[in-house]
Amino acid sequence: MQSNILTLSEVSFSYNGVKAVSNLSMNVKKDRITSLIGPNGAGKTTAFKLICGEIHPQEGNIFYKEEKINKFSPHRIAAMGIAWTFQNIRLFPSLTVREHVNLSQYTRYNSSLLDSIIGTTLFKQERMISARRTEEIMKRVKLEEYADEPAVNLPYGLQRRVEFARALGVGATLILLDEPTAGMNIQESNDIMELITSLTNIDITIFLVEHDMRVVMNISSEVWVMNEGTIISSGTPEEIRRDPLVIKAYLGE
Ligand SMILES: Nc1ncnc2c1ncn2[C@@H]1O[C@H](COP(=O)(O)OP(=O)(O)OP(=O)(O)O)[C@@H](O)[C@H]1O
Ligand SMILES: [Mg+2]
Repeated sequence: MQSNILTLSEVSFSYNGVKAVSNLSMNVKKDRITSLIGPNGAGKTTAFKLICGEIHPQEGNIFYKEEKINKFSPHRIAAMGIAWTFQNIRLFPSLTVREHVNLSQYTRYNSSLLDSIIGTTLFKQERMISARRTEEIMKRVKLEEYADEPAVNLPYGLQRRVEFARALGVGATLILLDEPTAGMNIQESNDIMELITSLTNIDITIFLVEHDMRVVMNISSEVWVMNEGTIISSGTPEEIRRDPLVIKAYLGE
């Protein structure tokens, strides 16, 4: 049996008394693609924010690799190997693609700021290793030919790739993707599907929130369905497709 890398156990969260996530229990299996779907306002993005520490559960627990992370800061959670991309892309206006990927690796450095100022051997070694990794990562996400372009000048589909590259740069083992193919054409979204699938071959787990059912049904090994803050169904894409509860949640009464 495949082990769970992430578990949410009876998690609840309200924004000023308005319940967004309610008694949410689910898990994500290691090295797989797990999707979370549900109608607008179901609480999917809130669930992501709870996992990455932007907000904290008011009830229930979140475990990552068996460690309880309920109260950890986003910084600490990132350092544990969880990366996330949100519905809106966040890039630095002045940095090239290569600089974005390089920068993402600084969190992994053992050398201090002082090392970098003095230019110690440790710092130089680490800088060399990260430069090599940057080239590998850009190749993996097919961005080599745009390496020297300012990231914000790229078309939307490629900007998404920069975000993937950054997640790989920080050394994430679990990547949360909130609607990664939103606003993309078929070709761009096919490319992203291929990229996401390829990551599971290098020991990366994907937790995906996505409205595009074509994407979800094609690449997920497991799908969890949320409605009004809680899970109403889970299973393989085939099982979900046939579940009357799911159909009802999407289509209404
Ligand atoms: N910052 C906030 N303050 C108050 N209420 C919020 C806030 N963010 C979300 N909500 C509410 O919480 C509920 C869940 O929202 P959430 O964004 O998690 O849904 P979602 O499933 O991601 O929806 P979508 O598919 O449209 O992205 C909604 O009723 C929403 O209005
Ligand atoms: Mg959302």
